[in-house]
Amino acid sequence: MTATPIKHYLQFKDFTADEYAYLLQRAAFIKAKFKAFEKHHPFADPDRTLAMIFEKASTRTRVSFEAGMYQLGGSVVHLTTGDSQLGRAEPIEDSAKVISRMVDIVMIRTFEQTKIERFAAHSRVPVINGLTNEFHPCQILADLFTLVEHRPATSGNPLDAIKGKVVAWVGDGNNMANTWLQAAELLGFTVHVSTPSGYEVNAALAGISNPACYKVFADPREACRGADLVTTDVWTSMGFEAENEVRRAAFAQWCVDEAMMAVAQPDALFMHCLPAHRGEEVAAEVIDGPQSVVWDEAENRMHAQKALMEYLLLGRLA
Ligand code: CP
Ligand code: NVA
Repeated sequence: MTATPIKHYLQFKDFTADEYAYLLQRAAFIKAKFKAFEKHHPFADPDRTLAMIFEKASTRTRVSFEAGMYQLGGSVVHLTTGDSQLGRAEPIEDSAKVISRMVDIVMIRTFEQTKIERFAAHSRVPVINGLTNEFHPCQILADLFTLVEHRPATSGNPLDAIKGKVVAWVGDGNNMANTWLQAAELLGFTVHVSTPSGYEVNAALAGISNPACYKVFADPREACRGADLVTTDVWTSMGFEAENEVRRAAFAQWCVDEAMMAVAQPDALFMHCLPAHRGEEVAAEVIDGPQSVVWDEAENRMHAQKALMEYLLLGRLA
């Protein structure tokens, strides 16, 4: 008898469109339970434990996974590089073998994608990418959930709310941008990307085979023209702090301002994964303005990841 392979969530493209349709519906169900103060404890006895490993800082990812797992009736172990043997060069493979014998699911935020892949290859339990230099799939899952929530399809199928949409990405061709490309190819929408030269998205790294899923614009305002969603992120991601001053100069024209929002669709949404820097990648009038859904977006990390953890541990429940 061959063992069923363990399902991990290391990149957005690890799941199918059908799995995203399920997860988006399930996240809405789980969110409704939370808002109604109804318990949602899907795990039968014994309860499940999530290990969270952070090699970079976090506010949203930590709180959303930790609170989310407790709300599902499970428990959480929190590790950082500094307070574990990870920071003293214990091989990632050995860490994976040990940690995955004691917990039921693992979330990792780290630097290179190869590191999380090596961990997953030696883990007995599902592994979730909580951000790497290359990808941030949990954030895009929450962003799509937020899009569907604010602009639902008349059919009720969450994928219909996403299909054919135009998402404008303004700024760094970073982990968020690479993940948007994967989502666009898989779910059938287009990303209009505008980055300064030298900071382009990495379509090869994202494994994009349909080049029509994104269009590159030199002018960020042109990328926003007609967009259903305008989104951006910090100019300097974690791990790239040494480039901060060079990046500030290179990105000066890539601030999402009211002029950019004015050429997007009149009902366009603005998203930012946060943390944000007002006056750098986004004007205060935009992030604090009426088209911004950034607080729902942040909250939705928790609901979407509860659906994700439940799915990885129990499969489909509805
Ligand atoms: N958006 C996001 O991942 O936020 P944190 O870095 O605070 O976890
Ligand atoms: N691109 C940013 C996202 C932070 C949530 C970073 O990697 O630092």
